[in-house]
Amino acid sequence: MKIAIVNGPNLNLLGKRQPEIYGLRTLHDIELSLREEFADTDFVFFQSNSEGALVDELQRLGYSEPGLDGIVLNAGAYTHTSLALADAIAAIPVPVAEVHLSNIHARESIRRQSLIAPVCAGSICGFGADVYILATEALRRMAAR
Ligand code: DQA
Repeated sequence: MKIAIVNGPNLNLLGKRQPEIYGLRTLHDIELSLREEFADTDFVFFQSNSEGALVDELQRLGYSEPGLDGIVLNAGAYTHTSLALADAIAAIPVPVAEVHLSNIHARESIRRQSLIAPVCAGSICGFGADVYILATEALRRMAAR
């Protein structure tokens, strides 16, 4: 099993960024917890603050990463604005699970809209850093079907 974890803008600041909303766990903590929880799974980790770099990585993962079973994507604020990311997700044959640490449906109205949700296999939000574990488990189950 091989899963990619892709994080968008400002998620490199997890742990110090608005901890009352996003919690105290860093991206590195999240990577360690995924490796611990799923010892039998290969992970590819990628983070960028740039929309184009995220599109490039989704394309690379979709077409050039051998044996990839799924992608967990926290697109950060690009979730609400990026048609380019939605197009990239629709363009690749690998299933993408949308995640958000916060419950985007309980926040400002602009965050309630996700441009990427319609092209993702599913979405999980609001459970803090555990969303990465939950989405990985969902993609593993999809791949095992
Ligand atoms: C987020 C929610 C987005 O609205 C926000 O722009 C983020 C983080 C989350 O994980 O809760 O950067 O994706």
